[in-house]
Amino acid sequence: GAAELGPYRHYMQKEIFEQPRAIADTLEGVTAVMPELFGDKAYNIFKKIDSVLILACGTSFYAGVTAKYWIEAIAKIPVNVEIASEYRYRESVPNPNALVVTISQSGETADTLAALKHARSQDMLNTLTICNVATSAMVRECKLAYITHAGVEVGVASTKAFTTQLTALFLLALSLAQVRGRLSEEEEAAHLKAMRHLPAAVTAVLALEPQIIAWAEEFSRKENALFLGRGMHYPIALEGALKLKEISYIHAEAYPAGELKHGPLALVTQEMPVVTVAPNDALIEKLKSNMQEVRARGGQLYVFADADSRISSSEGVHVIRLPEHYGMLSPILHVVPLQMLAYHTALARGTDVDKPRNLAKSVTVE
Ligand code: G6P
Repeated sequence: GAAELGPYRHYMQKEIFEQPRAIADTLEGVTAVMPELFGDKAYNIFKKIDSVLILACGTSFYAGVTAKYWIEAIAKIPVNVEIASEYRYRESVPNPNALVVTISQSGETADTLAALKHARSQDMLNTLTICNVATSAMVRECKLAYITHAGVEVGVASTKAFTTQLTALFLLALSLAQVRGRLSEEEEAAHLKAMRHLPAAVTAVLALEPQIIAWAEEFSRKENALFLGRGMHYPIALEGALKLKEISYIHAEAYPAGELKHGPLALVTQEMPVVTVAPNDALIEKLKSNMQEVRARGGQLYVFADADSRISSSEGVHVIRLPEHYGMLSPILHVVPLQMLAYHTALARGTDVDKPRNLAKSVTVE
């Protein structure tokens, strides 16, 4: 009801603004990186696994894709990420030494539960879930668990569940690295410090809302949008496109920016807004040349850059700057303006933001 919403117009907006608190709660009690954060048996399991298989649906799947970049870079363990509904029905090659990780806000998604059971039926018994509901089927069915503390999420379009999943998955990457002797005490301390500062960093990003409202006015008149990202921000572009289509009904697609020339460039005209996730990381120069390719075809760029990057506004190039570049945890910050862009675009179009047509919060039947 209105009382619970406080100053917010929708649950989705409230949940976007709850993210600093949700991340802080998810990290509560975490004073050091250690496998035991995931359960008593985690050390032995983490020690023996040779790979990771992540299974999830929807937004949770995109958290998994982000985690692949983190786990491979930090822990040097190969990771596969699969859509649960695909994995459960295909003939894959089972690996009993893999760590099977399910990611689910509800812990009740039918396809993700079935994918877990499928893995188990093939002798893959090292199971871990990242889940927001401690009493869910998923937590009961997995040997190991990390409970995110997003709190109840009402909006069908997931927001705070996603950023808390990312927070837990980053801790998983660090814990796996530690068990393998790949995390020095200095690195552990630096990562933990950055994680503890996340709530303040997200709060600073939320302050960009007025600038995003101005962009949303323009977006609300479009029927198509393209989202670009590279590296660990490619799944963030995917999530941004999903948010926009779910609640504003604008057709949106995301591409890794290097793939532009293999197809989507054919769609770029003056009518096409191209949202670019452009953190100040090692790929920024590559991304800038992808942006040139868009501009050369008249595409309108809407760039989320970091404070200190040399990207400036010009004809057809609109820039909003995040307050700081946040290194490996940057995806957690860069998804927030994309959530706000989708929210305010939907608001301008007058759609039912918290209950988009044809969609359910939790898909417990196939
Ligand atoms: C539905 C929701 C999405 C969610 C997905 C997976 O499609 O609308 O927001 O990401 O299910 O749900 P889960 O509870 O497994 O994370």
